[in-house]
Amino acid sequence: MAIKLVTLNSIMQFEKLYNCCHNAKMKTDAFRCKNYLRIGRHKWSREVREIVNVLFVCLGNICRSPMAEAVLRHKIEQRHLFSQITVDSAGTGDWHIGKMPHEGTRGILDLHGISYEHMTARLVSGEDFEKFQYIICMDKSNGDNVRKIPGGEKSELLFFMDLLPDEELREVPDPYFTGNFEQVYDLVNAGCEVLLERIITEKLEQA
Ligand code: 4NP
Repeated sequence: MAIKLVTLNSIMQFEKLYNCCHNAKMKTDAFRCKNYLRIGRHKWSREVREIVNVLFVCLGNICRSPMAEAVLRHKIEQRHLFSQITVDSAGTGDWHIGKMPHEGTRGILDLHGISYEHMTARLVSGEDFEKFQYIICMDKSNGDNVRKIPGGEKSELLFFMDLLPDEELREVPDPYFTGNFEQVYDLVNAGCEVLLERIITEKLEQA
């Protein structure tokens, strides 16, 4: 479910709206509404800073990309940047739509005290190419699949392992097949740290 862009009169209204959000998409929309908060008696103003939207993409959207989504959101919240950066994930295969992350992903996130509440698998769609400034594929075949979606041919894609140029691995191994969720967590954690610094430098400090 999406939230219609509405004008809010107060931060309290925003908080009420935010508390009703069941998933990352709704939270993103709520923050968009917050950008249109009324300031002063007659003036309506958009916040100066644009929101930065990040989308991680893998095949099933139950192992790697939701892990990256949860880890990056955790880092964003730790730095109090949640009103400036949103994060979501999606898959190019439809087998697991609506399902929660894989038990291996949930297990490693639990171990590190990272929330995956309300996260469910969804497919990448053409609308994503308009909304997200950073679309980050976990492996090369994810990128090939994204490019086959109408609108995706020309979209600017990033590859997760390009965030970690010193690693020998050039793709995030799929733990659905390897069973090695710890390895993926270590890569995802390191890559998300680099990504967050990059977003802060490229987008937030330039605003
Ligand atoms: P993910 O892993 O792309 O990291 O979510 C997979 C999950 C499910 C399947 C393949 C990969 N599958 O074939 O169902």
